[in-house]
Formats: sequence, C-alpha cells, structure tokens
Amino acid sequence: MSKDHVLVVGGSGMLKGVVKYFMEQGNIVTVVGRNRKKLQMLEQELQGTPGVLNSVAVDYTNTDEFIQEISRSITQYGPIRTSVNWIHSNAPHAPKALMDLQHTTSPGSTYLRLLGSAYGNPEKKSNDRDFMKKAYPNINYCETILGFVLESQSSRWLTHQEICQGVIEAIESQADRKIIGTVSPWSKRP
Ligand SMILES: NC(=O)c1ccc[n+]([C@@H]2O[C@H](COP(=O)([O-])OP(=O)(O)OC[C@H]3O[C@@H](n4cnc5c(N)ncnc54)[C@H](OP(=O)(O)O)[C@@H]3O)[C@@H](O)[C@H]2O)c1
Repeated sequence: MSKDHVLVVGGSGMLKGVVKYFMEQGNIVTVVGRNRKKLQMLEQELQGTPGVLNSVAVDYTNTDEFIQEISRSITQYGPIRTSVNWIHSNAPHAPKALMDLQHTTSPGSTYLRLLGSAYGNPEKKSNDRDFMKKAYPNINYCETILGFVLESQSSRWLTHQEICQGVIEAIESQADRKIIGTVSPWSKRP
C-alpha cells in the first residue's frame, strides 16, 4: 500500500469523494478548508478508512499563511505527490504560490487545477496554462474544467459524484486538460 503525501485544497466540500479515494489507497491526505467543524465532520466520515487525514484550517486568500501551513505539512509528511486544487478566483495569488512551493519541495509532482465552467467559454481568451507549464517544467500541471450536463430539453450543473469521478479519472490518466461534462454549446449552459 502506498503512503504518498497528497493535498486536496477545498477537500471538505464537493471534493470529499476525492479525499476518500486517496485515503482508501492508504495515502496521507492534507485537506485545506477554513471551517474546522467541516473538517472535523470529514474526519468522522472517513474514520476507519486506511490512510491518514491531515486537516489544515487556513484561508487560502491569505497567501502567506496558506503557504506556511502547507510547508509545515510537507515538513511533517514529506513532499507532495499530487495536489488537487479547487481555489476560487478571490485568491488570485494562491495557485502560483503553491506551484512555487511544489516546484521547490516536490519536483516531479502533479498539480491538478480545477476551473469553473467559464474557462470553457470559447470567448475567454487565455488562462495560466502556458505560463505554468513553461515556468515549472518539473511539475506536471494539469487542468480540469467543471462543465455542465446537457439533457433533452435543458441543462444542469454537475453533481458532486460526477465531479469527483471526473477528477479521479483525470488523476489516473494524468490528463493535461479535461472537461467534466461539456462546455459546448456554451449558450446552453444552465
Ligand atoms: N460546473 C459545475 O457543475 C460546478 C462547478 C463548481 C461548483 N459547483 C457546485 O457549486 C457548489 C458550491 O461550490 P463551491 O465552490 O462552494 O464548492 P465546495 O467544494 O462545495 O466548497 C468549497 C471548498 O473550498 C473550501 N474553501 C472555500 N473558500 C476557501 C478559502 N478562502 N480558504 C480555504 N478553503 C476554502 C471550502 O471549505 P470552507 O468553507 O470551510 O472554507 C470547501 O472545502 C458545489 O458544492 C457544487 O455542487 C458546480
């Protein structure tokens, strides 16, 4: 059974199933969220699951504190093998700061960034992908876009189960870029 250190930023929300997946493989999973109660509930839900849950209550909009806390976890549990990052746009500096940290402490690791469906809008010009790939050649930078589901007469957003399943597939395939559901036709989004 592997004992890698993995990180799930936003793991106490819709990504709980991703935390469970990593735990079931016996990994040490560092989970970031602000609310301690939500993190404690996750610990209770995963009691008895193999692996170690390392809950970190920190606000990622405070970049320095966020990076300090993740550095502390790396010191305690070792370099990160994979990070899954659902970071809202109110923290524009956090993704790059975490890439910097992974670059120096965890060469060869994977950084999976989740993006909202707006990133699938064909009219939205560019994002950070080219920059990240060039600036951090020793990190496997991957993006997964959370799309929507087209139904016969309408469309809907993804369920948590669909999101976690898609993220797990992206991790297992190491897909450079993946869309869960669809983003086209863009005009049909919910
Ligand atoms: N395309 C789609 O279908 C799509 C895409 C995105 C979302 N959604 C839906 O929308 C719902 C709400 O989305 P959501 O973005 O709130 O996702 P969520 O995953 O349900 O919650 C956000 C996660 O990030 C953490 N978080 C948020 N802000 C943080 C901060 N500043 N610092 C540290 N951690 C932080 C939260 O914990 P704390 O609150 O404890 O900080 C929680 O673990 C989702 O549950 C999902 O159903 C659908």
